[in-house]
Amino acid sequence: MAKRSFPLSKVYGLLEPGPVVLLATEQRNRANVMTMSWHTMMEFEPPLIGCVVSGRNFSFETLAATRQCTLNIPTVELCAQVVGCGNCSGRSVDKFRAFGLTPLPAQRVAAPLIAQCFANLECRVSDMRLVKRYNFFVLEVQKAWVDPTFYKNPRTLHHRGRGAFMVAGETFRSPSKMR
Ligand SMILES: Cc1cc2nc3c(=O)[nH]c(=O)nc-3n(C[C@H](O)[C@H](O)[C@H](O)COP(=O)(O)O)c2cc1C
Repeated sequence: MAKRSFPLSKVYGLLEPGPVVLLATEQRNRANVMTMSWHTMMEFEPPLIGCVVSGRNFSFETLAATRQCTLNIPTVELCAQVVGCGNCSGRSVDKFRAFGLTPLPAQRVAAPLIAQCFANLECRVSDMRLVKRYNFFVLEVQKAWVDPTFYKNPRTLHHRGRGAFMVAGETFRSPSKMR
């Protein structure tokens, strides 16, 4: 089938890996959460995750100042909250209250876990060298939690850009290492 030229402004929607996550921070007893899909794995163990947080976001300020956050992985049931947290700012909205999200204390960082998400990662910023240039933070996961009932086949959200999402499908096995 003939392919057509594709706008550069939409390329991110082809590659964006997902799953969409909720990045939670806390400063001066004020918790905040933002939606994030621009992240990438960088190392197995300790797990390193690179992510782009725009300098316009309130979360940028709190993440840069506290150097701690949690990444919370929602399933499709939380889609309305995911979109909501990505379209308003913690500067003026208490998003936990506005979107009915339940904060739980984390074990290793001073930022809340989100109870409704099936997995939660407690992270510390381990490298800020690319922040000035790309708003790219490197996070090291200190502690991870999963709900085993969702873990086997989580119906995570994957952002395709401009209001379009894909839901993860079935899990199947195929050797990823050929010997
Ligand atoms: C599906 C989706 C994905 C998003 N991904 C990112 C992202 O990767 N990085 C980012 O800086 N903002 C991203 N945003 C935008 C922020 O979530 C948004 O600007 C939010 O209002 C910031 O909140 P804050 O000011 O409370 O930090 C995304 C929004 C949506 C809806």
